[in-house]
Amino acid sequence: MAPVLGDEMIGSDFKISGAFKNLYNRQLTQIYEHARNLVSLRKELIFHHPIAQSLHHSIIMQLLDGKLLSEQIKAELAAEVEQIKMQGGKIPHLAAIIVGENPASQVYVSSKIRSCEQVGFKSSLVRCEAATTQEELLAIVQKLNDDPDVDGFIVQLPLPKHIDEEAVTLAIDPKKDVDGFHPVNFGRMAQGLPAFLPATPMGILEILRRYNIETSGKHCVVLGRSNIVGTPISILLSRKGYPGDCTVTLTHSRTQDLPAEVRRADIIIAAIGIPEFVKGDWVKEGAVVIDVGINRIPDESKKNGTRIAGDVDFESVAPHCSFITPVPGGVGLMTVAALMMNTLKACKGEIYGR
Ligand code: GUN
Repeated sequence: MAPVLGDEMIGSDFKISGAFKNLYNRQLTQIYEHARNLVSLRKELIFHHPIAQSLHHSIIMQLLDGKLLSEQIKAELAAEVEQIKMQGGKIPHLAAIIVGENPASQVYVSSKIRSCEQVGFKSSLVRCEAATTQEELLAIVQKLNDDPDVDGFIVQLPLPKHIDEEAVTLAIDPKKDVDGFHPVNFGRMAQGLPAFLPATPMGILEILRRYNIETSGKHCVVLGRSNIVGTPISILLSRKGYPGDCTVTLTHSRTQDLPAEVRRADIIIAAIGIPEFVKGDWVKEGAVVIDVGINRIPDESKKNGTRIAGDVDFESVAPHCSFITPVPGGVGLMTVAALMMNTLKACKGEIYGR
């Protein structure tokens, strides 16, 4: 039996593919023996070992478990809410506005409300029909701004075409903007001032932090420049401190030779909205891959004829990674957990005072 790299040297939770064991048994033994003699072994060493670099596929890969982390975070929040209750403090209250019947939005908002229940927050859901006018929506936003019991609220995007999303975002009181979409929060984030961070980038930072992934000096390539994910995560990871201090390349539809850019990345963040877009031969051995995509695609093998796919072609990419987020079960759940964290911060007045 070949020495099991994961068990003794790095940790038992690494996955080693069967194919690798069979094909590279001898090389694995050599790496093992070499590494064993090193006093301070780091994961990177394995990837930079000449033998490891000559391997066609990567050695070990660990899933970044968004389900596990989000449950951990929610348990921490629930414990804090219990404390608040015992001390007679204010229970955090999140409100959500949803306009129209977009099926994906319905799922996301339900998940946010369910999470509030899990952590002991109060929640309110304002459902508006698709024909709601911009003025009517702005009036609801104003009402929530003025309601002293509501600590934070979100307007689920996208909105119907006749409503100007920018005007609605601007109408939200930055002190209650737990989505971190208002330009005041965005600007404060960019300057490194206390701010509500947008939930998906915040969830990504939490994954990197809780898995102790090195970011300092790493080259991070972000795919997609949306205001919600790509642009803010590129700012956050280039900021001083941990997780941060990355050199960031923000790529988009006009980027020339995207695969070549992605191949330079130590950390890849795919937030482009195209199913299974990033391919295995674009990925440097040992890269960390964060897949933000949630795309519904046809799949005849499934009961309902569809499945959820990320922006990364998991099958071809995973063998090259040191860490990768699955879809589902990765970033999506962390987005909701981050929103809960922001709501507690809003209730406690941590960003703007009470
Ligand atoms: N639509 C997609 N992601 C988000 C999000 O994080 N917040 C809101 N409000 N709408 C979204």
